[in-house]
Amino acid sequence: MIENKLKVQPELLLVGEVEGTLVGAMIAGFDGVRGWIYHLAIAPEYRRRGFATQLVRAAEDGLRRLGCPKVNLQVRAVNHEVVAFYRSIGYEIEERVSMGRRLEAAG
Ligand SMILES: CC(C)(COP(=O)(O)OP(=O)(O)OC[C@H]1O[C@@H](n2cnc3c(N)ncnc32)[C@H](O)[C@@H]1OP(=O)(O)O)[C@@H](O)C(=O)NCCC(=O)NCCS
Repeated sequence: MIENKLKVQPELLLVGEVEGTLVGAMIAGFDGVRGWIYHLAIAPEYRRRGFATQLVRAAEDGLRRLGCPKVNLQVRAVNHEVVAFYRSIGYEIEERVSMGRRLEAAG
């Protein structure tokens, strides 16, 4: 995933570092219509210090620079803590049905 992301909008692969220690990472992207936050995680021992907020804000800045008007993300419905996190930084639940299909690699 990292290898692929580095080929497309590599500036939207962000890491958080504290004195040389990797404490968090996230991947976002803009497809020309919407921006998406795909992955975000902060190491357990570094949580509740504002690092995820900083990473999301940095990703939003990067998305804005690409002309992105809106950011979406998907979180498993049972992941209440993550929902609480995103709500705290201004994201709202939008009622949608999320659908997907895995594609086999092109031959
Ligand atoms: C969700 C996650 C990214 C938050 O990271 P974080 O660095 O702790 O978040 P912040 O410190 O920026 O939190 C900002 C605010 O969000 C809210 N918040 C964060 N974690 C929360 C939790 N576990 N429960 C409730 N509210 C929470 C709080 O309002 C918090 O402010 P406060 O600490 O002053 O109360 C982190 O808990 C995580 O990596 N979780 C596991 C990975 C994951 O599931 N990622 C998302 C799927 S893509």
